[in-house]
Amino acid sequence: MDSIVILTGAGISAESGLGTFRDVDGLWTKYDLNDVATPEGFARNPALVHDFYNARRDNCRAAAPNAAHVALARLERDFPGKVLIVTQNVDDLHERAGSRAVWHMHGELLRALCAACGHRWAAPDRMAPTDHCPACTARATRPDVVWFGEIPYRMDEIFEELAACDLFVSIGTSGEVYPAAGFVELAAEAGVDTLELNLDASFRARAFREQREGPATEIVPAWVEEILT
Ligand code: APR
Repeated sequence: MDSIVILTGAGISAESGLGTFRDVDGLWTKYDLNDVATPEGFARNPALVHDFYNARRDNCRAAAPNAAHVALARLERDFPGKVLIVTQNVDDLHERAGSRAVWHMHGELLRALCAACGHRWAAPDRMAPTDHCPACTARATRPDVVWFGEIPYRMDEIFEELAACDLFVSIGTSGEVYPAAGFVELAAEAGVDTLELNLDASFRARAFREQREGPATEIVPAWVEEILT
């Protein structure tokens, strides 16, 4: 086996204390995603959206990578082939655990974007509608996060990697949001082996050749140990 593509979702960061979206006390049970995770919501009330991401940025900075993030960083370091993490998560826990090949298809909490000129920079702890873009000075700054209705990042490259790898592993995602939810079909159609590691059977569980259930901090390190020995 030469290359592994790993898709991660909020479930891999759950045991680091960062909320998931659709679990019992998930973020979308506390906030209306239309208000805080759509371009329309941002246009309606930018201060509310900035407050939502300021709170998530605080949670992210206060959180620490867990054993699942650390295991994936070990896999990248010790596996003789290629390991790529494509994450739906906007936290930086994979990077802080030591992973280097991490593609954030839904953007990053710790990055800011200017809606006027496209400039990107490291987000300050607190963002507000009155901020000016450091490049063009327009008051058009936003979190560099992909909202519903927007196009996720690096999709063409991701599709290429999915078709070319030997194993596709999905960790901690409900499989309810496309295009990520469709990755397992693309991989399977390309003859790629598929494995799901999740707390419980996801919406797409039946599409995987193998499906293991349990907390990521237990089943991800165990799987990595299997691959490396
Ligand atoms: N270990 C493993 N899996 C877990 C754990 C855990 N400790 N806790 C929860 N999970 C699983 C849940 O069973 C669920 O299947 O993680 C998944 C979380 O699903 P969601 O809350 O839907 O999160 P995610 O799949 O990442 O959402 C996808 O939706 O809201 C958008 O852009 C947002 O990136 C997000 C996308």
